[in-house]
Amino acid sequence: MSDTGFTIWLTGLSGAGKSTISKEIERRLNAIGRNVEIMDGDVIRTNLSKGLGFSREDRITNNKRIAFVCSLLTRNGVACIAAAISPYREAREWARETIGNFVEVYVKCPLEICEERDVKGLYRLVKEGKKKEFTGKDDPYEEPEYADLVVETDRETVAESVDRILAKLVELEYLSAAIIG
Ligand code: ADX
Repeated sequence: MSDTGFTIWLTGLSGAGKSTISKEIERRLNAIGRNVEIMDGDVIRTNLSKGLGFSREDRITNNKRIAFVCSLLTRNGVACIAAAISPYREAREWARETIGNFVEVYVKCPLEICEERDVKGLYRLVKEGKKKEFTGKDDPYEEPEYADLVVETDRETVAESVDRILAKLVELEYLSAAIIG
């Protein structure tokens, strides 16, 4: 029997932990022989979405492009992980409708903690006035109202968050229970 494709859509602030979580999900799924594709915002913006900025319109376009590719892969049995801030409900809902086998995970972390982590040094640039339209600072992040799952990265380990995400996929019958056994 061929594998069921699905997309795990990780949404959250810059520095919340989306990329880290996606890599660990990929590792766990590869271990059971699944083909995985990560659509990471930072990477997609260097090719598929090259030239797009951070206006509402450009972010929605970026997220819709990611969702479109995820829909193609999902229908061909791939396990897709989208890791983009995706700050607007409109784009996330479009992704849900377009993709079908879809799980929205809110990777939640207080802004102050993301700023403290400042993995890419971008929050420092914002503070110095060298970066504008930054999500959570002077640009909106619309929190998910109906996420399928919320993981709180300031309170749980990466392994715990990933276990909960995989359990949700089993519950939705996208994965067999063997993954958490
Ligand atoms: S999204 O809003 O369109 O979904 P995406 O996830 O692709 O965003 O890209 C966000 C990444 O771009 C951040 O992780 C950060 O590295 C970088 N970035 C650069 N400028 C900004 C900005 N103004 N707001 C948010 N992220 C930015």
